[in-house]
Amino acid sequence: MTRKKITVVGAGNVGATTAQIAAGRNLGDIVLLDIVKGLAEGKALDISQAGGVYAFEGRVTGTMDWQAAADSDIVIITSGMPRKPGMSRDDLVAKNTEIVKSVSRNIAHYCPDAFVIVVCNPLDAMVYTAAKVTGFTPSRVMGMAGALDAARYAYFIADELGVGTADVRAVLMGGHGDDMVPLPRYTSVAGIPLLEWIDREALDRIVDRTRKGGIEIVNLLGYSAYYAPAAGAVRMAEAILRDSKAVMSCCAWCDAEYGIDGAFVGVPVVLGAGGVERVIELDLNDQEKSALAESASHVRELVAQVEIILADS
Ligand code: NAI
Ligand code: 2OP
Repeated sequence: MTRKKITVVGAGNVGATTAQIAAGRNLGDIVLLDIVKGLAEGKALDISQAGGVYAFEGRVTGTMDWQAAADSDIVIITSGMPRKPGMSRDDLVAKNTEIVKSVSRNIAHYCPDAFVIVVCNPLDAMVYTAAKVTGFTPSRVMGMAGALDAARYAYFIADELGVGTADVRAVLMGGHGDDMVPLPRYTSVAGIPLLEWIDREALDRIVDRTRKGGIEIVNLLGYSAYYAPAAGAVRMAEAILRDSKAVMSCCAWCDAEYGIDGAFVGVPVVLGAGGVERVIELDLNDQEKSALAESASHVRELVAQVEIILADS
């Protein structure tokens, strides 16, 4: 059986960690690609040298040459400026739209059948950019944010309740920003509704901390998170490659779902061999609907900025 091929664009913090985790989970051959001379090659060599310890079956290759990425099954885009203290994700839109545009042109040329998982920020607007520039069907283009934001939310709940994080089934939707929408009504601990277990003050504190989960790490480190983001990206790639029909939130195309008429926004989906195979429509109450509409309208504002940048370039 031929091994699957996964290209990770950007060999920085998120990209290199994504390659390392994907190799460790034996997802296939990994190509790590960056524009900085020696960076992808060096990181790939270092990861490869752990191959004996982790028993990788695939090869990890570093390159600056898109030809090496040709015919990848999945391309994960992590190439983009990260934010620094004092910056919001939205401050990255101008620079990262240009980067995602140029990367997406290469994907369309070299990897015309690939699924694309976008990681760079501002996430939802960069997914729109990748979909528009590649011209791929929307079920093949998606963004990693829900897997991370829900993982943060689950960790904070587990920590508060003193239970295992893996037992927390956290549901969250909306754009990857401070107005994301954690959904306590749909969150459970091993099937037990969260709301039967947690008091209001603790829940409000956790929801607020989840929304600010990215900046909490930026303020501690001086640069943005990468272990949990990389794990989220690999989880999505694995669901597609293994056709596991995994249910998780990701930034996906909504055509009418949740009243969102043509936009990429974070929603619960089924991920499998067809990419985003289905958007799961939950029955939201009025408060949840209005929080989601507000988050989606923020995404639309950013997409309008992307449209101007793409038209000018
Ligand atoms: P980083 O600065 O460590 O790495 C970015 C890499 O991209 C650099 O090595 C750079 O040389 C490379 N690059 C730039 N232009 C390129 C191009 N045209 N082709 C190939 N490589 C190129 O940044 P980090 O921490 O890895 O973050 C990457 C992006 O992911 C940022 O935009 C960050 O905001 C975003 N991010 C998103 C998360 C999410 O939940 N969606 C979570 C964490 C980070
Ligand atoms: C995060 O949430 C920076 O978007 C990134 O950590």
